[in-house]
Amino acid sequence: MPSNVIVGLQWGDEGKGKITDLLAKNSDYVIRYQGGNNSGHSIHTKNRHFILHLVPSGVIYSSVKCIVGPGVVIDPKSLIQEIQNLESIGIDTSKVFLSKRAHITMPYHRFLDRYQEEFLGDKLIGTTHKGIGPTYEDKISRIGIRALDLLNLEVFYKKLKYNIDLKNQIFTKIFKKKPLFVQEIYEEYIEYAKILSHRIIDAVYEIHNAFHNQKKILFEGAQALLLDIDYGTYPYVTTSSTSTGGVCIGCGIPPNFLKNFIGITKAYCTRVGFGPFPTEIENEIGDMIRKKGNEYGATTKRSRRCGWLDLLALKYSCMINGINYLIITKLDVLNELETIKMCIKYKCDDKIIQYFPANLKKNTKGIYIDFPGWKEDISHIHEYEDLPNNCKKYIKFIENYLNLEVLLVSVGSERNQNIIKNKSLFFKIFT
Ligand code: GDP
Ligand code: IMO
Ligand code: MG
Repeated sequence: MPSNVIVGLQWGDEGKGKITDLLAKNSDYVIRYQGGNNSGHSIHTKNRHFILHLVPSGVIYSSVKCIVGPGVVIDPKSLIQEIQNLESIGIDTSKVFLSKRAHITMPYHRFLDRYQEEFLGDKLIGTTHKGIGPTYEDKISRIGIRALDLLNLEVFYKKLKYNIDLKNQIFTKIFKKKPLFVQEIYEEYIEYAKILSHRIIDAVYEIHNAFHNQKKILFEGAQALLLDIDYGTYPYVTTSSTSTGGVCIGCGIPPNFLKNFIGITKAYCTRVGFGPFPTEIENEIGDMIRKKGNEYGATTKRSRRCGWLDLLALKYSCMINGINYLIITKLDVLNELETIKMCIKYKCDDKIIQYFPANLKKNTKGIYIDFPGWKEDISHIHEYEDLPNNCKKYIKFIENYLNLEVLLVSVGSERNQNIIKNKSLFFKIFT
């Protein structure tokens, strides 16, 4: 059965966790294909609030197999903590599995992430400090440690020693920091290996078998297209392929396994960390959106920068991802606004730009069209027809601009605060 993919279309935190959880109900598998514990995916059920970092957002359903795929980088300390937290509140994690091929984040990756950021001074990226970039760097340098190495401690020790010898040169000579000790880290990781070994599988065969056995598979993106290593706002990006294309590379599957590419966008924009943001709102409206939308990082608790919806960026993102259907989240956050702006062009150095450029400059500013706000609470609405007219006009404009249909509108953080716009299509795709 052809599979579905969920991706973020902006700079992350679009609500992928909420939507993946919603769609997981009718899935056999939920699979992460890139990123690491830099992600923070929130799920609100009736009386519980979860933030998932590495565990796929299908875990709340005990019937769903959750796979941390080959393209993900795994910090075992963080993963074990996450699994223990879930178990402690009665969530069954026995169906969470890790790919043998996934690379492992080591303490030296976390240190390197910090030291490199410090070294960059005012050019820093504003990373999550989780060691994600340095883990992927080692993978590409062909010196990384993979999950399968945790199953052979002799091999693990040799690789660890080589890496620490190398990293200690960098720590002491370049960054003037303290060296690390092999034995200490080895002993720490042996414990992690004991706890995780039964979860480490050949995920590539698992996924292929699932596909051939007609299982319903949902691939859950982390981060989002504008943070993609190749197509995002480089260098202010993360270090993985966040697009739908990343699913094939990150899980070892051919493109023809995939059918529906569902893109998630907020009704406005946010960004954490540094980098260009043409529609950023740096006044009381931005503050209001941050407060109402609770725009504080799920992983680092940093304030998220807030801005108007950027249709040029969204169109570019849909193009790269081959999006078939859209989901719009957090429309309720705009409830109180008199006027809502949407960016349809940019201005930079007195030039008008009508597309999303490869070198989006910091001084690029949005040119907007104004929409009258709906000025009423929509968070209790469940039927599309019941939305205020101005709200429907806002959605229609997005659909027309992108030439895409909106499948679902999310109007609150709770699991049930959704409006399915086209029910027959939605149930055709997801049941
Ligand atoms: P993710 O990284 O894409 O999974 O998104 P995050 O979980 O980091 O951030 C999204 C935040 O918005 C979380 O706090 C969600 O609970 C919340 N959220 C999701 N959808 C909605 C919505 O439609 N309305 C409101 N008000 N909050 C939402
Ligand atoms: P989810 O999956 C928002 C941002 C960081 C920083 C840049 C690089 O919750 O949407 P990294 O630690 O990856 O090297 O940091 O990417 N970033 C995110 N921003 N949501 C995320 O994940 C992010 N993961 C990384 O803030 O700007
Ligand atoms: Mg998040």
